[in-house]
Amino acid sequence: MRAPGKKRGRKTAASIAARLNEHVALDAQADGSLAACFDGYSTGLGKFSAAAVDRAQRLRTGLPLDAFTSGGGNAGDQEMDLLVRRLARRGLLEYRLARSDEARNEVVIEPQVSDYWPQIPALGGADLIVLSRFAYLRRRGKEMILESPRAAALFRIGNPRLVSFLALLVTPHSINKLRRQDGFPGLELLALLVDCRILFRIDTAGGDGLRANEGDDNLVLWDFHDLLFHTHSTEGRQANPLGGVYPYAGVMPPPPAIRSRWPGKKIDLGKASAASPAALPPIARLLRERHSTRDFDDRQPMTLAELARFLDCTMRIQSKWKSRLDLGGGPLVAYTTRPYPSGGSSYELELYLAIANCEGLARGFYHYDADRHALVPIEVRAPELDAMLTAAGFAMDASGPPQILLTIAARFGRVSWKYSSIAYSLILKDVGVLIQTLYLAATGMGLGGCAIGTNNIELFAKMTGIEFHVEGPVGQFALGRGAPDNE
Ligand SMILES: Cc1cc2nc3c(=O)[nH]c(=O)nc-3n(C[C@H](O)[C@H](O)[C@H](O)COP(=O)(O)O)c2cc1C
Repeated sequence: MRAPGKKRGRKTAASIAARLNEHVALDAQADGSLAACFDGYSTGLGKFSAAAVDRAQRLRTGLPLDAFTSGGGNAGDQEMDLLVRRLARRGLLEYRLARSDEARNEVVIEPQVSDYWPQIPALGGADLIVLSRFAYLRRRGKEMILESPRAAALFRIGNPRLVSFLALLVTPHSINKLRRQDGFPGLELLALLVDCRILFRIDTAGGDGLRANEGDDNLVLWDFHDLLFHTHSTEGRQANPLGGVYPYAGVMPPPPAIRSRWPGKKIDLGKASAASPAALPPIARLLRERHSTRDFDDRQPMTLAELARFLDCTMRIQSKWKSRLDLGGGPLVAYTTRPYPSGGSSYELELYLAIANCEGLARGFYHYDADRHALVPIEVRAPELDAMLTAAGFAMDASGPPQILLTIAARFGRVSWKYSSIAYSLILKDVGVLIQTLYLAATGMGLGGCAIGTNNIELFAKMTGIEFHVEGPVGQFALGRGAPDNE
């Protein structure tokens, strides 16, 4: 029998409280309209009763979720639920996990995807859990952050003892065993970490928690740094500032446009070739004519016939062949030949087309089947298609969406099945090669185009139903007939 006062792992249950992000303020009008204000912007949240507006002020310090989600669902609780979920969808909340017997915050959860909502899956005493190989701890400012490219939220760790407890989970442990450990943080935190795939459950029958035990074959193929690079250099699965926001403009001068000269004695190439512009090869004209077009002539949209020719000369499979993997005995690998080069002849890139305005082709979302030279429609929700097209117009600072938006998606496993450490960087290099191919084809056909540096991997996953680590966007290109004043 355990001596009184020696009980371990029997602490008060932790509760989750929703809290407004530090830079967000609520603005209430006399008619009950509430708005969230941040960084000079204001977003309407709807009209609420005086009691709800009053209760909403508690979101500044933290409003326990179970105070309005676990009750009988009275009108006041429903109003609160609506308001808190609206704030959550706009990414304006964080969640504090604390036990009532503890004064300071142990853990604060920062959502990284727009529809994150804290979930506490049930964990049984016999369940074995282990850290994901994608999870990592790092310092951010004066805080310790626990995150993972697979996670829908990151965890700010306020208690250093928690770090040493988590370190236990480099090998699988049962919940029963963990409960007996010093510093057991409570089941709620472990469940929240399981929900975010920072911890995962493995089969009690076996499994060492290593690479093969975590998820599907598509996940096995990812190196840690590649998946992190993918989620943190795109939009949709991270909450960091993104794009051309000039974060260092006030800190240091801009790096020069042209590199400073090396001191050696120069060899003048102008004199060496003495070539007039006319003597340059024909490709030089195309290269010099190429430029980015961001505004399109919607009275004269691109036609289906032009699109077919464009795809034929840039992306269409020209031939197929097979080769046995080195040294005989290995599997037979299938390859294709296409109009642009690709690392290892992988040709992992696919084109998805968001059509806004193309004569002869209905507005919608399509996959280009490069083998059959055909477009295959994909049913998507209209607001998602609109969001994708609008974001492209926004990224180009254009007057509207492009006529056609090409999303370049990668079948990641096609490259990482072969290449270690360099897979994702090879994919991005392939994207660059393809983008230049698209630019040159557009120029040669008298059309206009523009590369787009941001793309939302979560939106694409929602539209296609394909998990973000299986196939996803790595680039975008706007295409159409340029507006007259572009030319
Ligand atoms: C990888 C890449 C990403 C780009 N992203 C954007 C973008 O998001 N928005 C935009 O308006 N232009 C974008 N551009 C176009 C560049 O701004 C453009 O190529 C550059 O200003 C040179 O102008 P030019 O293409 O007309 O010669 C991108 C170009 C590349 C190659």
